[in-house]
Amino acid sequence: MEIIYGPQRGPVASTDLPDHYPWPERAGQAYVRAMMVATLDGAAAGGDGLSGSITGDADGEVFTAVRRFADAVLVGGGTLKAEEYGPLHSTDDDAKRRVAAGQADAPVIVVVSGSLTLPLGDDGFTGSTLTPLVFTTADPDPERLAQVRERCEVVQAEGDTVEVSWVIDRLVERGLWRIVCEGGPTLLRDAAASGRLDEADLTFSPMLVGTEKTPPTDMLADPRGFELVHVIAADDFLMSRYVRRDNA
Ligand SMILES: NC(=O)c1ccc[n+]([C@@H]2O[C@H](COP(=O)([O-])OP(=O)(O)OC[C@H]3O[C@@H](n4cnc5c(N)ncnc54)[C@H](OP(=O)(O)O)[C@@H]3O)[C@@H](O)[C@H]2O)c1
Repeated sequence: MEIIYGPQRGPVASTDLPDHYPWPERAGQAYVRAMMVATLDGAAAGGDGLSGSITGDADGEVFTAVRRFADAVLVGGGTLKAEEYGPLHSTDDDAKRRVAAGQADAPVIVVVSGSLTLPLGDDGFTGSTLTPLVFTTADPDPERLAQVRERCEVVQAEGDTVEVSWVIDRLVERGLWRIVCEGGPTLLRDAAASGRLDEADLTFSPMLVGTEKTPPTDMLADPRGFELVHVIAADDFLMSRYVRRDNA
């Protein structure tokens, strides 16, 4: 793996990757990273309808590195269901480093879902070190709400929508300001529309797969601009780090 563009060019070991995705100190504010992989033709999922078929080992290492010192991993209900999220744990060394920095010993998984049709029956995301947080609307299906509450902490909005900006503010109130938003496209579109994205970590996958399995999203009224910080190349994948212009 090699940094081919950026302030520190040259080979990079996977153990050093988190240093290239730092979490800048923020006084009581969120730092929100969007993490996505896209094919050369812009698809967010392969023929199986999942991102797993368009990712690779190098991209997986970057994905893991970005998560390692995050406070919260934010996903939409669609992604959680499609991708079968496993539990979030830290290694002993990472847990020590996190605790020394005043963080919990592992990231918490945060799900945004209106329907609350979440995969609760196995130990997937609910087997994480920390109890998952689920953000939903004021009036979800009562039976599902009760089921989700058995394994997760539920935070309800006041109305029938869940604004991403409101979710971010609630996370910051809990001291969870290092937020990595892992998608999918619908949640990322709302996160971008909210104006709260600080960074976009986008992997270009060396594939052309067609976009039939990629959910379409509404256009943004105000497209967001980002500045390129670095590009890592490995196995024909390009892992780019873009930071919002006024943060770079
Ligand atoms: N390429 C990548 O990096 C990547 C990353 C993640 C996912 N994916 C792929 O993307 C596809 C899923 O896409 P998607 O757009 O459906 O994913 P998504 O954004 O994770 O899921 C959409 C669902 O999340 C909930 N949701 C999202 N934003 C919400 C909001 N503001 N308020 C209330 N609920 C909200 C809703 O769940 P309810 O239906 O429960 O109400 C909505 O139906 C899958 O094929 C997955 O494999 C690709």
